Amino acid sequence: MTEDESIERAFKIFLLGDSSVGKTCLLKRYTDDTFQDVYLSTIGFDYKFKRVTLANGKKIKIQLWDTAGQERFHTIAKSYYKGAHGILLIYDVTNQKSFENIKKWLTQIKEEASSKVVVILVANKIDCDKRVISKEDGESLAESSGLGFHETSAKNDVNVNETFQDLIEKIYEVYQNTTAKALGKKLNNDSKNDNNNKGCCK
Ligand code: GTP
Repeated sequence: MTEDESIERAFKIFLLGDSSVGKTCLLKRYTDDTFQDVYLSTIGFDYKFKRVTLANGKKIKIQLWDTAGQERFHTIAKSYYKGAHGILLIYDVTNQKSFENIKKWLTQIKEEASSKVVVILVANKIDCDKRVISKEDGESLAESSGLGFHETSAKNDVNVNETFQDLIEKIYEVYQNTTAKALGKKLNNDSKNDNNNKGCCK
């Protein structure tokens, strides 16, 4: 049996949020354990695969989609995240507007994504001393919107793995009755090669 055949599940995860909140950096920290200070705005989208072991020992494959935060790419992104099993909805604790826009993102998710999609609110850049959004404000928004909540720093590698793992465990709980075969087939149609970037113009 190949490693792929032993994997029971495959899930699609999207990183959403305004431009420059740190979506790409969180993804890179999680998949490659790297961080880049230089800001290169994502054009369109980019994705990566990763294999993850759940707390119960089961192995799953995830497809991680990094989307462009810039408004002009939202229409493209929307058509892709219809198939999302999980979403990390990210704001920057130093950027008031990115926090205010979370409500807009939630409306869009409600309109476009599956009603079963698991969403976690993520407050990124907690290493910065110019924070304007408190932890309490983030927690309160998450609670009133029925979302999970984590604070992270992609830069200092704070809580990044834990945030992704929490989302994946929650997705597994929600989708464990969906057949692995169906999910795997869908993902194989989306991509021919693991770890290949697509539409990435950072
Ligand atoms: P778009 O591609 O435009 O949607 O942006 P993005 O959300 O992918 O943001 P990106 O990851 O490119 O990061 C934007 C800027 O924020 C970069 O200069 C990063 O170095 C910086 N940044 C990202 N995460 C952190 C963090 O945790 N702490 C600090 N201090 N800076 C961060």
